[in-house]
Amino acid sequence: MSIIETRQLTKVFPGNIRAVDGIDFTVEEGEIFAFLGPNGAGKTTTIKMLNTLLPLTSGTAMVAGFDVAKHPAEVRKRIGYTAQDVGVDEYATGKENLTLYGHFYRLDSKTIKQRVKEIFELVDLTDSANRMVSTYSGGMRKRLDLAMGLIHQPQLIFMDEPTTGLDPQTRTHIWEYIRQLVRDKGMTIFLTTHYMEEADRLADRIAIIDLGKIIAMGTPDELKKSIGGDVVTLSPCAEKDAECKEFIKRTETALSGKPFVVGTKATDGELAVYVPDGEAAIPSIMRLLASEGIEVKTISLARPSLDDVFLKYTGRTIRAQEGTPTTWAEIQRKRSRRQK
Ligand SMILES: Nc1ncnc2c1ncn2[C@@H]1O[C@H](COP(=O)(O)OP(=O)(O)OP(=O)(O)O)[C@@H](O)[C@H]1O
Ligand SMILES: [Mg+2]
Repeated sequence: MSIIETRQLTKVFPGNIRAVDGIDFTVEEGEIFAFLGPNGAGKTTTIKMLNTLLPLTSGTAMVAGFDVAKHPAEVRKRIGYTAQDVGVDEYATGKENLTLYGHFYRLDSKTIKQRVKEIFELVDLTDSANRMVSTYSGGMRKRLDLAMGLIHQPQLIFMDEPTTGLDPQTRTHIWEYIRQLVRDKGMTIFLTTHYMEEADRLADRIAIIDLGKIIAMGTPDELKKSIGGDVVTLSPCAEKDAECKEFIKRTETALSGKPFVVGTKATDGELAVYVPDGEAAIPSIMRLLASEGIEVKTISLARPSLDDVFLKYTGRTIRAQEGTPTTWAEIQRKRSRRQK
């Protein structure tokens, strides 16, 4: 049975801001499902609608067998939530914070005591349970956030950017805790991230979300295969200036429509060329560009990454945060350009 099922889920904020724009997806029990997208894509808004913190504008969402709009209390009983910015009491210990949460859920004292012990062991905070949260490091706080979402043993946990701002080592640890929850407790995880590697390494399935819409969905492998081969990245210029842009355009024109090229995408200073077979294509690409008088400074060959998938569907890299629209006017400009 699907533990989450949405139909045309939509959130429009005042000012006609379509933060989530008619999305359909399902999450199966026992899955780690990731929403991958840049800032402002609509990830938190989706999570908040699914966990009943935000009313839907239109569409439907079933979570743990209940309609979020009709039976929010039933949904809340069955889910846990690790927010992007969590409110914990800095001047209480980790243990006190978690115990308080247990009381919020009306658990009896004996159960709370038992679960607090178990959860602190799970997230590796037993030794620091009696320390004030204000003395915790960033990684310890994130682990405490995670613990707070677990106290009532939910079937499904929503985690909004569980590892943002953490160092790579702590991030890997958190991934391990998340996997453990699925493996040992049979939980389902819905998480959001803008880290490609996180989605790639952790999630069973990924929905790539951009400007409120799901633009691609599948297992990490399926998404990468949808690129259809390898990626050859060309840098025809040393400086990223206007001349470079012109140069990239010429390179793209020279390569377009050639039998050994599936598609191209230009970014700032580079051109990604999608080819069925990288090793075979590079000599042909070099010969062709030489005949056009285009000199390539660097060339690299890679198997496609999720970044390439994002680039293919949106025309920009998820890393290029400067290129991410921040105002609604910018988003609409981008959308109308894409539709042309
Ligand atoms: N309460 C609100 N009122 C108006 N606009 C909002 C509100 N909350 C979010 N938005 C807008 O909706 C869009 C989606 O925001 P959301 O927070 O869901 O993005 P996100 O994918 O979680 O981004 P981030 O990675 O930065 O957390 C953004 O354009 C944002 O400015
Ligand atoms: Mg967010």
